[in-house]
Amino acid sequence: MDTLKLIYRMTLSTSIALAAGCGGSSSTNPPEPEPSAPAFTTKSSLGEALYSDPNLSFNRTQSCATCHNPDHAFIDNRLGPEGLVDAVSLGDDGFSLGDRNTPTAAYARFAPLFASGSHPRFNSQQPDYHGFVGGQFLDGRATDLASQAAGPPTNPIEMGMPDKASVVDRLKENSRYVDSFEHIFGPDVFDDIDTAYMAMAESIAEFEKNDEFAPFDSKYDQFLRGEYIYDPLSKAALGKSLFFSQQFTNCATCHQLKPNGTDGELFTSYEYHNIGVPKNVDVRARNGKDESFVDEGLLSNDAVTDISERGKFKTPTLRNVAVTAPYMHNGVFRELKTVIQFYDHFLTNSDHVINPETGTPWKDPEVPETVAFTELQDGNKLSNDEVEGLVCFLRTLTDSRYEHLLPEDGLCN
Ligand code: HEC
Ligand code: HEC
Repeated sequence: MDTLKLIYRMTLSTSIALAAGCGGSSSTNPPEPEPSAPAFTTKSSLGEALYSDPNLSFNRTQSCATCHNPDHAFIDNRLGPEGLVDAVSLGDDGFSLGDRNTPTAAYARFAPLFASGSHPRFNSQQPDYHGFVGGQFLDGRATDLASQAAGPPTNPIEMGMPDKASVVDRLKENSRYVDSFEHIFGPDVFDDIDTAYMAMAESIAEFEKNDEFAPFDSKYDQFLRGEYIYDPLSKAALGKSLFFSQQFTNCATCHQLKPNGTDGELFTSYEYHNIGVPKNVDVRARNGKDESFVDEGLLSNDAVTDISERGKFKTPTLRNVAVTAPYMHNGVFRELKTVIQFYDHFLTNSDHVINPETGTPWKDPEVPETVAFTELQDGNKLSNDEVEGLVCFLRTLTDSRYEHLLPEDGLCN
């Protein structure tokens, strides 16, 4: 606040106090805000503002929230040419398209730091897992949320800023940011570009650790707390028992983190696998990638060199999955039912040999050499009721604020 305003305010409050004729009791004379109070006093509140500020992109058209929309389970729900949620995201330049489907930023804070290790599995006939786990991005190349958040502003096909210095200049355009950064990170924060840039990334990461990103209030969470009962005759109940069964399905092998019934299940053990997803040829035709281009997944992470990791992707959480179509790292499948039928085609004597979205047999995996056949072929083939049961169970993993986005197709009634 400048001095003139301050004097004006002081005069005003003195005259109010005088007019009230009571010497200024606290009820008639509210306390003055600190003259130099910064707009944001915590990393998280500062991060919240940064998260949805388009000024951090070159043409000032997009922010984190554009591709991770809080009103839509933190995915990019902008529509593609077919009028459905696009498989890939449009950049700030208005024409560049990505090659990977934007994952949800919800529940992302629970991914462990990228590392190699081993852990036990639950409801699985498979032995303990040994290999890479966790990290941010589908290939784990950012070890944690702050280093992840440092990526998009200078990514040429995302927010498109030429370098960190120009991002920091954009921060400095906003006096509310300047005051807040100096208050939170110290008066020298803008002396060094990297320090200021990482302070920005750290603030965004703190915001992403907020409970808004991870309310744990789906029907499944309510069930764990004894507040919701799965009707034993419902499809969702059938799906739940299939999902957590050791024998009938293999889902829990990769999508269960904690022992049965533990609060805060994330529906991913953060393992890396190649589950044989085919190329998304429509996306490749639109984003200008060459026919021969292969998304190498985990192998595109600089910390990984072993060719046996090629084509593996981080197992995604299944929280909110019923409202985050399309599916897989490249968005190649539109519907959950298709995803489940796709899994089922790995099982011998499966009826599900045709991709229902194309009417043709499943296409070959993009990277055929490393498909996790051992895990994928462990299980019984599914009937159509069982496929629908799994879909209905997955719908119960929707946070209550997104339940209105669930399809109203009567499938699970
Ligand atoms: C143009 C769209 C776009 C913008 C803008 C964008 N993202 Fe993303 N985000 C993506 C895509 C695509 C991926 C996956 C990329 C990959 O794996 O290589 C991703 C991955 C992530 C992940 C990792 C999730 C996981 O499960 O591994 C987080 C967290 C995230 N973004 C947060 C942010 C934040 C914070 C910002 C703003 C600083 C941001 N994103 C801006 C598209 C975007
Ligand atoms: C071998 C480990 C493994 C098994 C077994 C497995 N999954 Fe997955 N799941 C993954 C991986 C890895 C991905 C991401 C693959 C990709 O994008 O290429 C994935 C993706 C998915 C997706 C899409 C999520 C999204 O946001 O795009 C759904 C839904 C899903 N799995 C459900 C299931 C169900 C249901 C089962 C059991 C029938 C199952 N999975 C069995 C590892 C596994």
